[in-house]
Amino acid sequence: TQSETGKLKRLYAQAGQLYHHILVNTKLGQPALDHLHERGLSDELIAEFQLGYAPQAEILQAFFHEKKLDDYQTLRKSGLFSEREGEDLAERFNDRIMFPIRDQTGSIIAFSGRLLTPDKKLPKYLNSPEGILFNKRKVLFNFDKAKKTIRHESKVYLFEGFMDVLAAWRAGIKNGVASMGTSLTSEQIYLLEQTASKLYICYDGDLPGRKATKRALELIAPLSKFDLGAILLPEKLDPDEYVRKYGPENFKDFVTSHERTELEFYLEYFRVGRNLETESDQLAYITDVLEKVAQVKDPLARDLTLNRLAKEFELDKNNLTSQLQALMQQVQ
Ligand code: GTP
Ligand code: MN
Ligand code: MN
Ligand code: MN
Ligand code: MN
Repeated sequence: TQSETGKLKRLYAQAGQLYHHILVNTKLGQPALDHLHERGLSDELIAEFQLGYAPQAEILQAFFHEKKLDDYQTLRKSGLFSEREGEDLAERFNDRIMFPIRDQTGSIIAFSGRLLTPDKKLPKYLNSPEGILFNKRKVLFNFDKAKKTIRHESKVYLFEGFMDVLAAWRAGIKNGVASMGTSLTSEQIYLLEQTASKLYICYDGDLPGRKATKRALELIAPLSKFDLGAILLPEKLDPDEYVRKYGPENFKDFVTSHERTELEFYLEYFRVGRNLETESDQLAYITDVLEKVAQVKDPLARDLTLNRLAKEFELDKNNLTSQLQALMQQVQ
């Protein structure tokens, strides 16, 4: 007899194929396919990631029945049906573009569905519930496909979402993964640290994305030996919007020429909402930056930042150095 995880994996594999088939071969899937084409995704990319569509119809049970995979308890536990009590199984994903989420070996362990028709009462993305196969904290979208390139380049780009990873992939960046939202976990960092030495955060260019970048850097820096940095996208764009606006080639050029160090990120981040013409904002800014400089291990990076501050604000570098030393003693 099959193990419970084996049964679930077979179920997900079959569901993944069905959702994909509906998207690419059926009338039911046509509006979703149009949506993806309009967003610049090719049929090849859609096939490569096995994107799918869960229609507003009950299709899974009959399908599983035909495949002789309709063991009621397994269906219940699969997370493909809503957790309502009672005998009837109602499908969890309705009118959603389906992104298969895979483990490191490439087996589907969950889905995330993006609403095709916007609806304010429903979440834009809906994930499979967690269970014996799917622990959100330990999974990164696209890690299975990306890990070869991540290893080869010893570098990984971390994006917010599915569409961003796909946009980067189109641009030839094949070492991108997504934390699926912005709450990164220590487990995910550990996984990446086994595979690469450089990590660049490339979250959305909007304010929530900037704040999440800061949170991610603050989480990662003390936990890991990563050579850390961030890419700040302009005009509040996310990677997917950047690719649609300027094209895949320009996205790749932008990313590879704007890999900033942690300190460069903070130099920019702490400007937000401040008027650096005024002395009080200057002081607050310099204090914020120095606090970050104090946490950086690389003495050269610290020195470069002091030079920059001294130059920009016409300060005596010796003053900055002694203030930094005071801060560094506090940190220890
Ligand atoms: P798309 O471009 O259509 O993907 O939307 P977006 O750019 O507005 O996505 P957003 O930047 O808001 O979200 C980035 C990622 O966060 C998504 O790819 C999801 O992984 C995750 N996410 C966004 N909204 C939700 C939500 O309502 N629920 C959950 N669980 N995750 C979400
Ligand atoms: Mn959004
Ligand atoms: Mn976002
Ligand atoms: Mn986004
Ligand atoms: Mn987007």
